[in-house]
Amino acid sequence: MGKSLTRKIIESHYVKGSLVPGEEVFLKIDQTLTHDINAVMTYLAFEALELDRVRTECSVSYLDHNLLYVNNMTPDDHIYLQSAAKKFGVYVSRPGNGICHTLHVARFGVPGKISMGGDSHTPHGGSIGMLCIGVGGMDVATAMTGVPMRLKMPRVVQVRLTGNLRPGCNTKEVILEMLHRVSIKGGLGNVYEYVGSGAASLEVPARATIANMGAEMGATSSIFPADEQVRRFLTAQGRAEDYVELLPDEDAEYDERIELDLSELEPLISCPHQPDNVIPLREAEKKKVQQVFIGSCTNTSYSDVARAALVFKGHHVHEDVSCTCAVASRQTYRELLRDGYIDMLLAAGVRMLEISCGPCCAIGQTPPTNGVAVRTSNRNFKGRAGNPTAEIYLVSPESAAATAITGTFAAAEDILGADVARLDTIHEPDTYLVDNSLFIEPLPPEEAQKVEITRGPNIQFLPVPEAPEEHLIAGVSLKARDNVSTDDITPASAEFSSMRSNIPLMSQYCYHRYDPTFAARAKEMGQSIIVGGENYGQGSSREHAAINPMYLGVKCVIAKSIARIHKGNLVNHGIIPMLFEDPASYDLIDQMDVLEIEHLTEQIPTRRVAVRNVTKGKTFYVTLDLSENEIDVVLSGGQLRYLRNQLAELEEA
Ligand code: F3S
Repeated sequence: MGKSLTRKIIESHYVKGSLVPGEEVFLKIDQTLTHDINAVMTYLAFEALELDRVRTECSVSYLDHNLLYVNNMTPDDHIYLQSAAKKFGVYVSRPGNGICHTLHVARFGVPGKISMGGDSHTPHGGSIGMLCIGVGGMDVATAMTGVPMRLKMPRVVQVRLTGNLRPGCNTKEVILEMLHRVSIKGGLGNVYEYVGSGAASLEVPARATIANMGAEMGATSSIFPADEQVRRFLTAQGRAEDYVELLPDEDAEYDERIELDLSELEPLISCPHQPDNVIPLREAEKKKVQQVFIGSCTNTSYSDVARAALVFKGHHVHEDVSCTCAVASRQTYRELLRDGYIDMLLAAGVRMLEISCGPCCAIGQTPPTNGVAVRTSNRNFKGRAGNPTAEIYLVSPESAAATAITGTFAAAEDILGADVARLDTIHEPDTYLVDNSLFIEPLPPEEAQKVEITRGPNIQFLPVPEAPEEHLIAGVSLKARDNVSTDDITPASAEFSSMRSNIPLMSQYCYHRYDPTFAARAKEMGQSIIVGGENYGQGSSREHAAINPMYLGVKCVIAKSIARIHKGNLVNHGIIPMLFEDPASYDLIDQMDVLEIEHLTEQIPTRRVAVRNVTKGKTFYVTLDLSENEIDVVLSGGQLRYLRNQLAELEEA
């Protein structure tokens, strides 16, 4: 039997462990990426490990998310990150250069390599046949030390794409259809490998929309073959020498297969408040739309924005709509400017924003009270846009443009009629406008050692948890519903994002939009336990959703299921992730009940723990879906303590 592309890459990076799906494997990591609103904790952790320099082939620190300097905090963070990168041999992408995933695939991605990024949409790089995995910031710090990284060996799902997209359809339709079929947690533990004639027809940025938003299925990653499209893309980026053909074997073995005919797709829309709530756009109730945002790493390639501009041509944004556009990279912006598409957007009344993530993570363009916002980004959780009363809908750039014109949900064909076919004339440039002047290259080691790291007053300490107690008795500080997202736990916005370097301050806003009384209650309780439903901690990789509760004294999260990246973050930051053995036990617990666990450290390695609800006088069981290595980390009191011991042992050996 032949091998999938995923299997080939994993085998070529194998260090130890098992290649059986679901079991733990340790891999060599080639590249890492971080971004400004998550990375301060990553570099504080790396500093604490007292290494001189990163030990990867390439690590990049992107300053891309929060470019609104509303106070001193974010510029302080950026100066800290820039100086830390200089000290540790890391590339810096300066503000205004573009969004991390778009830039990384264009300037650093290499087929067959493995990258780990401190952002859940890191799988974007799967568009060029690279295995890219989103993790928490502590995992990125670990990968930067060069130690092999643990990964649950994924199941590999073949997605065979056939046919061709119809004019007016975008690969956003493909990933929305996948979400509709697979759901927001159905991809857990899987890598989706896209093959077939339909995949071969898609240019790299179009593939990236699918790979990027595969994160919304809970998948470990998504990947496309490194084929002629990848060769063309890397050549157009001036990096033909980085191309290597990498394909799955004809008779490759897969754990599951999915067939998807592109020609059967029509414009789709993801409705509030989960990305998998997908229906045909023509069936959406015709609500009045107040905001349209064309932006994010998911859907602002050259082709995306040029097609949106063609929809706008000769039309104007509806008078009741505020339509904004943030192009994903400076390179793309300049190409669109050169080819006249930015002018078409401006002529239509589109508000051009800074080149950054911006509104995608609630940094600007918050919708009005009870507003309806249509976006080309990837998440529509309640509050994701900064206002929990708003409804967020996700569509393609073509549909977003049509919606901005009509003031209600519409597709490109509604504006262009049969002329919609002209959108198919848009392709990626044969040669991109390569300009690396907003990257800062790593310093040579002897110069790097002389760099002083600059810390503004907002750069506070990295809290380090204690090892678990033998006898835990703690109240339930929060009983949460299903599908709590990391946005619910750690809200996003220009103001909140700038607090992330200051845990004592940020922790006061933990669960702020979900339950504003939580932080004070948890602090008052001293130590506590959170109870959650299904898919706890879905969404963004932000590890502050673990650090802030840990800082407030949360010792365990007991849930029906926990999202992959968040589970890793809990382990890394000393909160024990536990799963109800019988999901019905969830109903036997109320907020403020007191729970007791005896002989906790003895029970942890057995992965089955008895929990007594002292208030209700009942005992229930929880399981620990943790690998041997994760058990060791939990018993050590988190990844930093564990890693320090590991590195000390390596030095001695
Ligand atoms: Fe940025 Fe949104 Fe992508 S926050 S990295 S544009 S998912």
